[in-house]
Amino acid sequence: MKESRSKPNQKANRRSFLRKGVLAVGAATAGAGFLATRLSAVRRGLEEKSGRLTRGDASILRFLAAAEILETDLWQQYNELGGIQDSEVPGGSGSLLYTAALKVLDGDMDQYIHDNTEDELTHEVFINAYLASKGADTADLDRFRTLPSSKATGAQQIGRLTNIMQLTVDTTWWTRYRSRTKNPDFGDTFPQAIPALAAGQHPAIPRSDDDLTPSDHIQAIANTAGFHFGTIEQGGTSLYPSLAQRVTNVEVLRIVLSIGPTEAMHFQTWQDKAGNAPALTDPKDPTLVFPNLNASPLGGEDFQTNLIMPEPVVFLSRQLPACSIVRPTGTKGSAMGALKFLTAMGLFLGQSKEFFGFMTDLAEDADEARRDVE
Ligand SMILES: [Fe+2]
Ligand SMILES: [Fe+2]
Repeated sequence: MKESRSKPNQKANRRSFLRKGVLAVGAATAGAGFLATRLSAVRRGLEEKSGRLTRGDASILRFLAAAEILETDLWQQYNELGGIQDSEVPGGSGSLLYTAALKVLDGDMDQYIHDNTEDELTHEVFINAYLASKGADTADLDRFRTLPSSKATGAQQIGRLTNIMQLTVDTTWWTRYRSRTKNPDFGDTFPQAIPALAAGQHPAIPRSDDDLTPSDHIQAIANTAGFHFGTIEQGGTSLYPSLAQRVTNVEVLRIVLSIGPTEAMHFQTWQDKAGNAPALTDPKDPTLVFPNLNASPLGGEDFQTNLIMPEPVVFLSRQLPACSIVRPTGTKGSAMGALKFLTAMGLFLGQSKEFFGFMTDLAEDADEARRDVE
């Protein structure tokens, strides 16, 4: 960000001043032409700080750019150790044993990790470049790259934004997308696929070469990554449609509607791979148990591990027929919801107060955006 963020109260004051300005103009004006001229002047005033975008559209794109920077940062850490390091996604030199453990989930895991990482990088770079092209402030998190890298052979030793070595992974997406009756937008809740991952703190990459053995330990780390991939990408799959409902400009809507579904493509891929995570107990952490997902308490037709498409579910109203949809897509507080979800998984453990303040400001701005129909 080029400018320092203003506090929410100041923003609210600014908005109410502008609203009052519009009313005052309306009351004092006799001619419609004069009113139109003044209203467009006021509108220009509203857009001033965001270039040619409305303040709301710029805020939504800035929050999404920041979210994509965070996604890139975590995917980059996965790619350095378990993906493919090349000119498209440079950095790191790979960890043979971690890469091999990931390939137990699918022989192409390294390719998919590489491609997911590249996608996030392009999302981040594109959204920020678009903001800049419209004269709007961009999102920049560089000063928060302070978290340590893995010490395992293959990882770059650079400052990180995210921590994927102490994760608490919410795996309810596994049961949520298989439910035919429950939708989180109706307040419904869902059981964890891997309860042990949703408690405690678990590495999703080897923290050092000590984590490479015994084989069931590095497999538990690869399994954790396999579920974390789905958790992250289902979040993106919901975030884009949630925020799209607040976008004003059709071109900004096109951006959000064109990036969002790629998150769903990621999610579907990872849902398929997570289903192949072998059942095991981590020998270095016996509380970390990966159960057989085809057996009780899951199992049965709805929980077959080869299911990768959403089951149809109640949508908008219980009076309407069930529909196969992304869920949740509620728009109220969705940016703050995403920030809380990422924070709760431990992704920012070790980050500064300033980081949380900055991200909260970006999320609140995005959630304050309103669709402004002209
Ligand atoms: Fe993305
Ligand atoms: Fe993504």
